[in-house]
Amino acid sequence: LVLPPCDFTVFGGTGDLALRKLLPGLYEQERRRQLPAGTRIIGVSRSPLDDAGYRDLVTRALFEHVAEDHLEAGALHRLTARLHHLTLDVGSAEGWDRLHGLLKDRPDRPAGEEATRIHYLAVASGLFGPICDRLDDLGLVTPQCRVVLEKPIGADLASSRQVNDAVGRVFEERQIFRIDHYLGKESVQNLLVTRFANVFLEPIWNSRWVDHVQITVAETLGVGDRGGYYDQAGALRDMVQNHLLQLLCLVAMEPPSYVGGDAHDAVRDEKLKVLRALAPLTGDDVDRATVRGQYTTYGTELGHPSTTETFVALRAEVQNWRWSGVPFYLRTGKRLARQESTIEVVFKEPPHAMFPDSEGVTTPNRLTIRMQPDEGMQLHLTAKHPGPGGIRLHPASLDLSWAEAFDERSPEPYERLLRDVMRGVPTLFMRRDEVEAAWGWVEPILARWHEAGVEPVRYHPGTEGPAAAERLLARDGRTWQEGTR
Ligand code: BG6
Repeated sequence: LVLPPCDFTVFGGTGDLALRKLLPGLYEQERRRQLPAGTRIIGVSRSPLDDAGYRDLVTRALFEHVAEDHLEAGALHRLTARLHHLTLDVGSAEGWDRLHGLLKDRPDRPAGEEATRIHYLAVASGLFGPICDRLDDLGLVTPQCRVVLEKPIGADLASSRQVNDAVGRVFEERQIFRIDHYLGKESVQNLLVTRFANVFLEPIWNSRWVDHVQITVAETLGVGDRGGYYDQAGALRDMVQNHLLQLLCLVAMEPPSYVGGDAHDAVRDEKLKVLRALAPLTGDDVDRATVRGQYTTYGTELGHPSTTETFVALRAEVQNWRWSGVPFYLRTGKRLARQESTIEVVFKEPPHAMFPDSEGVTTPNRLTIRMQPDEGMQLHLTAKHPGPGGIRLHPASLDLSWAEAFDERSPEPYERLLRDVMRGVPTLFMRRDEVEAAWGWVEPILARWHEAGVEPVRYHPGTEGPAAAERLLARDGRTWQEGTR
């Protein structure tokens, strides 16, 4: 597929996301020679940098964030040659004419044929509307333009609607790419393939056979230097409203008619149905079904005391025929014992105990989908322990490790998603209605915490999180699956 040249503008071009994720993602495309010929990358920020200064900054970032064996002099040279920097305060009216000049000045394009313009907004969502308005005023929005929005989009349902309205006044929905980088993870896409390109799971993927589902995204890192943003957001807005609910959707959704091809809305339609089927958590349901935690050193890291949560555990239910009565337990937190993201589908006990004379224990069947690190899948079974005499039951597992099965590095999520933006493929991006449905479900939880003054319970760094998260499952006679590796 030969793509037309592209002008890729990154608002927030010197920010953490641009330097850690976006430019390394673009570099990997350059290395694979996938960037369209004639592509330019224009970093926009308030920093007083010229092109040479920006090239130095980005080169240093690439040395830090690209895998060492992927650093190639030729690719580095080709990428940095594409870089430009524009000093611009997006909150002010100054400097936009220079952006206009740069984007309109494409001597390589015949008159009337413009490059594909991609505007990547890696800035606070309050600035999305004003940036789009300016681009529109300058005549920089054409039907071939795309805009990429970083999460979080707003801080609640009303503000996300305002942001979506503001962007929607300038761009059509088909031009708007809302990133959730979890959807770009190899293992997350593989979940779709495992569910829908095989037959063995579908007949048991329902409330008749599944006891419950656990989704864990555990991080060892703290807030680091993102405190300014994070303390306003907290774990529910930062992780649950987007990444964890998206994962829940992919586990729970009905088979779409197609995944891929031109059926860009098939997966998104099915995810939306799941979000709309989530049982609302309101009032004192919230007290029973959610746990809010904060690690004990958070205030010190931040530099001031705070009541923002760095950990959330909750119990959700999808009210539809397939999932009625099956709890979905979600949990995420920072400064936990290990860096691990997993989906556990825990099946019911066999309907009849067939080995009354056996020794040993049976544990329920469980499918573990490990998203990171070491992507893989494990099916936990009960097997016979080898040996003569009576039957001794023993847990065993079928293990599939991606690294062992496929001798290939998985692309980083941003690498894949940026490529999809350039190709104009929106399947792995969130549609407006999904984002708003997710906010609609999360908002009453935030409201209850606020109204009832629910303070986060403390947990020590390096632990599994607050004991209350254990109790959330213990009340239902269940436990979290810890440490799958
Ligand atoms: C981001 C959150 O969206 O995801 C961060 O803002 C979090 O707080 C990060 O650390 C986790 O992503 P990953 O890919 O490292 O699991």
